[in-house]
Amino acid sequence: MDLDHVFEQAKSWVLEAGEQIRSSFDKTLNIHTKADPNDLVTNIDRDTEKFFIEKIRETFPGHRILGEEGFGDELSDLNGVVWIIDPIDGTMNFIHQQRNFAISVGIYENGVGKIGLIYDIVHDELYYAVVGLGAFLNEKKIPKLKPAIVKEAILAMNITWVLKNKRVDHKRLIPLVREVRGTRSYGSAALELVYVATGRINAYISPRLAPWDYAGGAIIVEELGGIVTNLEGGKLDMLTTSSVFAASPGLHGEILEKYLK
Ligand code: IPD
Ligand code: CA
Ligand code: CA
Ligand code: CA
Repeated sequence: MDLDHVFEQAKSWVLEAGEQIRSSFDKTLNIHTKADPNDLVTNIDRDTEKFFIEKIRETFPGHRILGEEGFGDELSDLNGVVWIIDPIDGTMNFIHQQRNFAISVGIYENGVGKIGLIYDIVHDELYYAVVGLGAFLNEKKIPKLKPAIVKEAILAMNITWVLKNKRVDHKRLIPLVREVRGTRSYGSAALELVYVATGRINAYISPRLAPWDYAGGAIIVEELGGIVTNLEGGKLDMLTTSSVFAASPGLHGEILEKYLK
């Protein structure tokens, strides 16, 4: 893959889609539910995904696409170039707050992350990384992550996971929540991952996400020396749902050894 060319195209489409989403704020949203009454989707999520798919198919007919809203391809492997797209990550925030949501794009070649873009539309902040070339916030290079320790760390996690739930033994997470300096919850996995990348928070945990939630952010965090795995410390799966644990160097090992194992 010609990384420069693919990156330039991806960047221009992300910015264009962002502009369209911004202009939708003045219009009435069509809101629908999916798996349950709190699992929301809007016409803007769908239109944005269709916009990317049309552009990618026209410009890169050999590339395949995995998108949350299901307009892309059905994938059973990651061979070749695969775009993993979340047209709006943080749809609930988009609907209720008109902030704290982002477009997320991860571009993989034979299963290896190459290009990640997360666009915080409301703040006009584009986070991106091209593997081996560094990560940027708009045009500014993001410095490599410094090591962090639990006692001084800010951890992002949804409060649901420390209540009794069917995904994870919640008792496992309580000592960690007690020990860190502070906790936060933003409601957009993509933004929480780039907050880890920029050091605004030091760790992010979610017991259940889909590939489009983390495909873009994981590339950016890793490009800066951060570590992204599942809650067991294993490699993330880009074809099925997975738990996600992203953290600064040092901190990832400390949390894994002392709190998660
Ligand atoms: C959601 C957000 C949220 C996470 C949910 C995701 P969506 O994505 O990333 O932070 O907790 O699990 O589904 O549905 O708004 O794209
Ligand atoms: Ca969704
Ligand atoms: Ca999402
Ligand atoms: Ca989404």
